[in-house]
Amino acid sequence: MLVDYINQLHEAMAKGHGKEILGKILDELIRYAKEHFQREEDHMKSIRYADFASHKQEHEIFIKEVSDLHAKFSAGNAMLSVRVSKFLKDWLVNHIMKLDRKLAAASR
Ligand SMILES: [Fe+2]
Repeated sequence: MLVDYINQLHEAMAKGHGKEILGKILDELIRYAKEHFQREEDHMKSIRYADFASHKQEHEIFIKEVSDLHAKFSAGNAMLSVRVSKFLKDWLVNHIMKLDRKLAAASR
């Protein structure tokens, strides 16, 4: 789902959609990410995951970064679309490939 939102965002940017649509996608991305991270954090607690604190901190940094980007975007920062797409893509690839995989391995 996170990947879906990022693809939606890319597509909307590529089609030259306006602030309203991009802002709505960012809103949904933030809301979905919060729910998803909460579920993952509950799961980590339930298995007494050793890396809980550092993994949760990554989630918090992501939410803060996306919220900051959303605020700057709403204020009219023209360069934001490039920053958004690069940041989101890099973060997701890094987080899913490393931390979420490590958690999945520990959950088996
Ligand atoms: Fe995670």
